[in-house]
Amino acid sequence: MSFGSGRIWMNGTLVDWADANIHIASHVIHYGSGVFEGARCYQTAHGSACFRLDDHMRRLYDSARIYRMEPAVTREALTAAVLETIRANEYKACYIRPIMYRGYGALGINPFACPVDAAIILWEWGAYLGEEALQQGVDVRIGSWSRSAPNTFPSLAKATANYANAQLLKMEAMADGYGEALALDTDGHLSEGSGENLFIVRNGVIYTPPMSAALLPGLTRDSVIIIARELGYEVREQVLPRELLYIADEAFFVGTAVEVTPIRSVDRVPLGRGSRGPVTESIQRTFFEIVNGHAPDTHGWLTYVYPSEAATPEPAPTASNAS
Ligand SMILES: Cc1ncc(COP(=O)(O)O)c(C=O)c1O
Repeated sequence: MSFGSGRIWMNGTLVDWADANIHIASHVIHYGSGVFEGARCYQTAHGSACFRLDDHMRRLYDSARIYRMEPAVTREALTAAVLETIRANEYKACYIRPIMYRGYGALGINPFACPVDAAIILWEWGAYLGEEALQQGVDVRIGSWSRSAPNTFPSLAKATANYANAQLLKMEAMADGYGEALALDTDGHLSEGSGENLFIVRNGVIYTPPMSAALLPGLTRDSVIIIARELGYEVREQVLPRELLYIADEAFFVGTAVEVTPIRSVDRVPLGRGSRGPVTESIQRTFFEIVNGHAPDTHGWLTYVYPSEAATPEPAPTASNAS
Protein backbone atom coordinates (compact mmCIF):
# COMPACT_ATOMS: atom_id res chain seq x y z
CA MET A 1 0.00 0.00 0.00
CA SER A 2 1.20 3.46 -0.75
CA PHE A 3 0.83 6.85 0.91
CA GLY A 4 -2.90 7.59 0.95
CA SER A 5 -4.28 4.11 1.56
CA GLY A 6 -4.70 1.62 4.36
CA ARG A 7 -5.86 2.18 7.91
CA ILE A 8 -4.67 4.68 10.49
CA TRP A 9 -4.78 4.24 14.26
CA MET A 10 -6.48 7.24 15.92
CA ASN A 11 -6.95 7.32 19.69
CA GLY A 12 -7.38 3.56 19.86
CA THR A 13 -9.47 2.98 16.75
CA LEU A 14 -8.41 1.90 13.26
CA VAL A 15 -9.98 4.15 10.64
CA ASP A 16 -9.70 4.29 6.87
CA TRP A 17 -7.08 6.70 5.57
CA ALA A 18 -9.74 8.97 4.04
CA ASP A 19 -11.57 9.25 7.37
CA ALA A 20 -8.54 10.05 9.56
CA ASN A 21 -9.39 13.74 9.92
CA ILE A 22 -9.15 16.36 12.67
CA HIS A 23 -11.02 19.63 13.21
CA ILE A 24 -9.62 22.84 11.68
CA ALA A 25 -9.77 24.43 15.16
CA SER A 26 -7.40 21.80 16.60
CA HIS A 27 -4.62 23.44 18.60
CA VAL A 28 -1.82 21.69 16.70
CA ILE A 29 -2.78 23.29 13.39
CA HIS A 30 -2.45 26.82 14.77
CA TYR A 31 0.41 26.49 17.24
CA GLY A 32 2.51 23.53 16.10
CA SER A 33 1.74 21.66 19.31
CA GLY A 34 2.63 18.16 18.21
CA VAL A 35 5.43 15.67 18.82
CA PHE A 36 6.11 12.75 16.57
CA GLU A 37 8.41 9.94 15.51
CA GLY A 38 9.66 8.39 12.34
CA ALA A 39 10.69 4.73 12.47
CA ARG A 40 10.98 1.97 9.92
CA CYS A 41 9.79 -1.59 9.65
CA TYR A 42 12.09 -3.64 7.44
CA GLN A 43 11.38 -6.88 5.62
CA THR A 44 14.33 -8.77 7.06
CA ALA A 45 15.63 -12.22 6.18
CA HIS A 46 13.73 -13.50 9.26
CA GLY A 47 10.47 -11.59 8.78
CA SER A 48 9.19 -8.04 9.22
CA ALA A 49 10.91 -6.17 12.03
CA CYS A 50 10.87 -2.61 13.36
CA PHE A 51 14.27 -1.00 13.92
CA ARG A 52 14.78 0.38 17.44
CA LEU A 53 11.04 0.72 18.00
CA ASP A 54 11.29 0.96 21.80
CA ASP A 55 13.90 3.70 21.53
CA HIS A 56 11.73 5.67 19.10
CA MET A 57 8.76 5.35 21.44
CA ARG A 58 10.87 6.46 24.38
CA ARG A 59 11.92 9.56 22.42
CA LEU A 60 8.26 10.25 21.58
CA TYR A 61 7.34 10.22 25.25
CA ASP A 62 10.43 12.29 26.10
CA SER A 63 9.32 14.87 23.51
CA ALA A 64 5.84 14.87 25.07
CA ARG A 65 7.33 15.42 28.53
CA ILE A 66 9.35 18.42 27.34
CA TYR A 67 6.11 19.94 26.05
CA ARG A 68 4.15 19.05 29.23
CA MET A 69 1.83 16.74 27.36
CA GLU A 70 0.09 14.01 29.30
CA PRO A 71 -0.84 11.33 26.79
CA ALA A 72 -3.96 9.30 27.52
CA VAL A 73 -2.20 6.18 26.25
CA THR A 74 0.86 4.60 27.86
CA ARG A 75 4.12 4.08 26.02
CA GLU A 76 3.66 0.30 26.20
CA ALA A 77 0.13 0.51 24.79
CA LEU A 78 1.18 2.83 21.96
CA THR A 79 4.11 0.57 21.09
CA ALA A 80 1.74 -2.41 20.94
CA ALA A 81 -0.59 -0.30 18.79
CA VAL A 82 2.22 0.32 16.27
CA LEU A 83 2.71 -3.42 15.85
CA GLU A 84 -1.07 -4.02 15.68
CA THR A 85 -1.47 -1.35 13.00
CA ILE A 86 1.30 -2.85 10.87
CA ARG A 87 -0.41 -6.24 11.17
CA ALA A 88 -3.86 -4.77 10.42
CA ASN A 89 -2.44 -3.26 7.22
CA GLU A 90 -0.47 -6.44 6.44
CA TYR A 91 2.68 -4.46 5.74
CA LYS A 92 5.93 -6.32 5.20
CA ALA A 93 7.94 -3.12 5.29
CA CYS A 94 6.84 0.45 5.97
CA TYR A 95 7.65 3.82 7.44
CA ILE A 96 6.03 4.39 10.85
CA ARG A 97 4.78 7.81 11.91
CA PRO A 98 3.32 7.97 15.44
CA ILE A 99 2.19 11.47 16.42
CA MET A 100 0.77 13.01 19.59
CA TYR A 101 -0.87 16.40 19.32
CA ARG A 102 -3.03 18.93 21.12
CA GLY A 103 -6.45 18.44 19.62
CA TYR A 104 -9.76 20.25 19.64
CA GLY A 105 -10.77 22.13 22.78
CA ALA A 106 -9.89 25.82 22.82
CA LEU A 107 -7.86 28.12 20.61
CA GLY A 108 -5.75 30.27 22.89
CA ILE A 109 -2.02 29.71 23.15
CA ASN A 110 -2.56 27.93 26.47
CA PRO A 111 -2.81 24.32 25.33
CA PHE A 112 -3.97 22.76 28.59
CA ALA A 113 -7.65 22.85 27.66
CA CYS A 114 -7.02 20.64 24.64
CA PRO A 115 -6.83 16.86 24.68
CA VAL A 116 -3.56 15.11 23.82
CA ASP A 117 -4.59 12.94 20.90
CA ALA A 118 -2.51 10.22 19.27
CA ALA A 119 -2.32 8.63 15.85
CA ILE A 120 -0.18 6.12 13.99
CA ILE A 121 0.23 6.52 10.24
CA LEU A 122 2.03 3.99 8.05
CA TRP A 123 3.10 4.06 4.43
CA GLU A 124 5.65 2.54 2.13
CA TRP A 125 8.63 4.86 1.82
CA GLY A 126 11.72 3.84 -0.13
CA ALA A 127 15.03 5.67 -0.23
CA TYR A 128 14.21 9.20 1.03
CA LEU A 129 16.74 11.02 -1.18
CA GLY A 130 16.45 8.44 -3.97
CA GLU A 131 18.24 5.15 -4.66
CA GLU A 132 20.91 6.98 -6.63
CA ALA A 133 21.83 9.11 -3.61
CA LEU A 134 22.49 5.95 -1.57
CA GLN A 135 25.13 4.95 -4.14
CA GLN A 136 26.38 8.20 -5.58
CA GLY A 137 25.85 10.63 -2.74
CA VAL A 138 23.88 13.84 -2.41
CA ASP A 139 24.78 17.47 -3.18
CA VAL A 140 24.37 19.59 -0.08
CA ARG A 141 24.03 23.31 0.52
CA ILE A 142 24.91 24.96 3.83
CA GLY A 143 21.66 26.69 4.71
CA SER A 144 21.44 30.44 5.18
CA TRP A 145 19.05 29.65 8.04
CA SER A 146 20.59 28.51 11.34
CA ARG A 147 19.19 25.92 13.69
CA SER A 148 17.38 27.43 16.64
CA ALA A 149 19.42 29.02 19.42
CA PRO A 150 19.81 27.18 22.73
CA ASN A 151 16.83 27.67 25.01
CA THR A 152 14.45 28.60 22.22
CA PHE A 153 13.08 25.48 20.49
CA PRO A 154 14.32 22.38 22.34
CA SER A 155 16.14 20.30 19.75
CA LEU A 156 15.96 17.11 21.80
CA ALA A 157 12.19 17.16 21.33
CA LYS A 158 11.05 15.89 17.95
CA ALA A 159 8.32 18.51 17.78
CA THR A 160 6.30 19.50 14.73
CA ALA A 161 7.23 23.14 15.44
CA ASN A 162 10.94 22.40 14.80
CA TYR A 163 10.13 21.46 11.24
CA ALA A 164 9.19 25.01 10.32
CA ASN A 165 12.94 25.69 10.49
CA ALA A 166 13.66 22.42 8.68
CA GLN A 167 11.30 23.42 5.86
CA LEU A 168 13.02 26.78 5.38
CA LEU A 169 16.32 24.94 5.03
CA LYS A 170 14.92 22.27 2.72
CA MET A 171 13.06 24.68 0.43
CA GLU A 172 16.12 26.88 0.05
CA ALA A 173 18.28 23.89 -0.89
CA MET A 174 15.67 22.59 -3.36
CA ALA A 175 15.14 26.02 -4.94
CA ASP A 176 18.90 26.30 -5.48
CA GLY A 177 19.17 22.85 -7.10
CA TYR A 178 20.69 20.89 -4.22
CA GLY A 179 19.53 17.55 -2.81
CA GLU A 180 19.61 18.48 0.85
CA ALA A 181 20.43 21.27 3.30
CA LEU A 182 22.92 21.25 6.12
CA ALA A 183 22.39 23.69 8.98
CA LEU A 184 24.80 25.46 11.28
CA ASP A 185 23.94 26.26 14.88
CA THR A 186 23.74 29.89 15.97
CA ASP A 187 27.47 29.85 16.82
CA GLY A 188 28.22 28.87 13.22
CA HIS A 189 29.20 25.29 14.05
CA LEU A 190 28.03 22.29 12.06
CA SER A 191 24.67 20.99 13.26
CA GLU A 192 22.59 18.64 11.08
CA GLY A 193 20.58 18.28 7.90
CA SER A 194 16.90 19.22 7.62
CA GLY A 195 15.97 15.73 8.81
CA GLU A 196 19.19 13.79 9.38
CA ASN A 197 22.46 13.80 11.32
CA LEU A 198 25.94 14.41 9.96
CA PHE A 199 29.17 12.41 10.05
CA ILE A 200 32.54 13.49 8.64
CA VAL A 201 35.60 11.33 7.98
CA ARG A 202 39.11 12.76 7.95
CA ASN A 203 42.38 10.86 8.24
CA GLY A 204 40.49 7.71 9.23
CA VAL A 205 38.75 9.36 12.21
CA ILE A 206 34.97 9.80 12.22
CA TYR A 207 33.50 13.02 13.63
CA THR A 208 29.93 14.00 14.46
CA PRO A 209 28.56 17.17 16.10
CA PRO A 210 27.50 16.84 19.76
CA MET A 211 23.97 16.86 21.16
CA SER A 212 24.49 20.50 22.22
CA ALA A 213 24.85 21.64 18.57
CA ALA A 214 21.08 22.21 18.17
CA LEU A 215 20.43 18.79 16.70
CA LEU A 216 18.08 15.90 17.22
CA PRO A 217 20.30 13.09 18.51
CA GLY A 218 19.05 10.46 16.11
CA LEU A 219 18.76 6.78 16.78
CA THR A 220 20.51 6.08 13.50
CA ARG A 221 23.31 8.38 14.69
CA ASP A 222 23.53 6.35 17.89
CA SER A 223 23.49 3.07 15.91
CA VAL A 224 26.16 4.33 13.51
CA ILE A 225 28.44 5.39 16.37
CA ILE A 226 28.13 1.87 17.80
CA ILE A 227 28.62 0.20 14.39
CA ALA A 228 31.64 2.38 13.54
CA ARG A 229 33.35 1.63 16.86
CA GLU A 230 32.67 -2.09 16.41
CA LEU A 231 34.27 -1.84 12.95
CA GLY A 232 37.35 -0.41 14.69
CA TYR A 233 36.97 3.29 13.83
CA GLU A 234 37.61 6.08 16.28
CA VAL A 235 34.46 8.20 16.60
CA ARG A 236 34.61 11.68 18.13
CA GLU A 237 31.53 13.68 19.12
CA GLN A 238 32.74 17.26 19.17
CA VAL A 239 32.00 20.81 18.10
CA LEU A 240 32.94 21.02 14.42
CA PRO A 241 33.84 24.09 12.33
CA ARG A 242 32.02 24.52 9.02
CA GLU A 243 35.23 24.46 6.99
CA LEU A 244 36.11 20.94 8.16
CA LEU A 245 33.46 19.76 5.72
CA TYR A 246 35.18 21.18 2.65
CA ILE A 247 38.43 19.40 3.52
CA ALA A 248 36.78 16.15 4.63
CA ASP A 249 37.80 12.86 3.03
CA GLU A 250 34.19 11.72 3.27
CA ALA A 251 30.90 12.83 4.81
CA PHE A 252 27.52 11.19 5.13
CA PHE A 253 24.02 11.75 6.48
CA VAL A 254 22.22 9.28 8.72
CA GLY A 255 18.61 9.05 9.84
CA THR A 256 15.57 6.81 9.69
CA ALA A 257 14.52 8.34 6.38
CA VAL A 258 17.94 8.69 4.68
CA GLU A 259 19.42 5.60 6.39
CA VAL A 260 23.13 6.06 5.53
CA THR A 261 23.51 8.41 2.54
CA PRO A 262 26.88 9.70 1.31
CA ILE A 263 27.44 13.43 0.75
CA ARG A 264 29.35 14.00 -2.45
CA SER A 265 29.59 17.78 -2.45
CA VAL A 266 28.98 20.77 -0.20
CA ASP A 267 28.27 24.18 -1.76
CA ARG A 268 29.45 22.64 -5.07
CA VAL A 269 32.83 21.71 -3.57
CA PRO A 270 33.38 17.96 -4.18
CA LEU A 271 34.22 16.04 -1.00
CA GLY A 272 37.20 13.70 -1.16
CA ARG A 273 36.97 11.80 -4.40
CA GLY A 274 33.48 13.22 -5.07
CA SER A 275 31.63 9.93 -4.60
CA ARG A 276 30.91 7.45 -1.81
CA GLY A 277 34.09 6.82 0.18
CA PRO A 278 35.30 3.52 1.67
CA VAL A 279 34.49 4.33 5.30
CA THR A 280 30.97 5.45 4.39
CA GLU A 281 30.56 2.31 2.31
CA SER A 282 31.63 -0.04 5.11
CA ILE A 283 29.30 1.62 7.62
CA GLN A 284 26.46 1.71 5.12
CA ARG A 285 26.96 -1.97 4.29
CA THR A 286 26.97 -3.02 7.95
CA PHE A 287 23.91 -0.88 8.71
CA PHE A 288 21.92 -2.49 5.88
CA GLU A 289 23.11 -5.98 6.85
CA ILE A 290 21.71 -5.42 10.35
CA VAL A 291 18.38 -3.87 9.34
CA ASN A 292 17.87 -6.49 6.64
CA GLY A 293 18.63 -9.33 9.05
CA HIS A 294 21.74 -10.50 7.19
CA ALA A 295 23.94 -9.85 10.22
CA PRO A 296 23.14 -10.93 13.78
CA ASP A 297 21.05 -8.48 15.80
CA THR A 298 23.57 -8.38 18.63
CA HIS A 299 22.06 -5.25 20.21
CA GLY A 300 18.43 -6.33 20.17
CA TRP A 301 17.51 -3.53 17.76
CA LEU A 302 14.85 -5.49 15.86
CA THR A 303 11.26 -6.06 17.03
CA TYR A 304 9.51 -8.70 14.95
CA VAL A 305 5.97 -7.81 13.92
CA TYR A 306 4.30 -11.11 13.10
CA PRO A 307 4.33 -13.77 15.85
CA SER A 308 4.86 -16.64 13.38
CA GLU A 309 7.99 -14.96 12.04
CA ALA A 310 9.26 -14.04 15.49
CA ALA A 311 9.48 -17.79 16.14
CA THR A 312 12.20 -18.01 13.46
CA PRO A 313 15.47 -18.67 15.27
CA GLU A 314 17.59 -15.54 15.53
CA PRO A 315 21.36 -15.68 15.60
CA ALA A 316 22.17 -15.53 19.32
CA PRO A 317 23.85 -12.40 20.68
CA THR A 318 27.32 -12.96 22.05
CA ALA A 319 28.00 -11.98 25.64
CA SER A 320 30.76 -9.59 24.63
CA ASN A 321 28.75 -7.37 22.32
CA ALA A 322 25.15 -7.58 23.50
CA SER A 323 23.82 -4.22 24.67
C1 LIG B 1 16.01 16.99 12.45
C2 LIG B 1 16.36 15.54 12.47
N1 LIG B 1 17.61 15.19 12.81
C3 LIG B 1 17.99 13.90 12.84
C4 LIG B 1 17.10 12.88 12.52
C5 LIG B 1 17.55 11.46 12.57
O1 LIG B 1 16.97 10.79 13.66
P1 LIG B 1 16.68 9.24 13.60
O2 LIG B 1 17.96 8.58 13.23
O3 LIG B 1 16.27 8.89 15.00
O4 LIG B 1 15.63 9.03 12.61
C6 LIG B 1 15.80 13.21 12.17
C7 LIG B 1 14.81 12.17 11.86
O5 LIG B 1 14.00 11.87 12.69
C8 LIG B 1 15.42 14.58 12.14
O6 LIG B 1 14.18 14.93 11.79
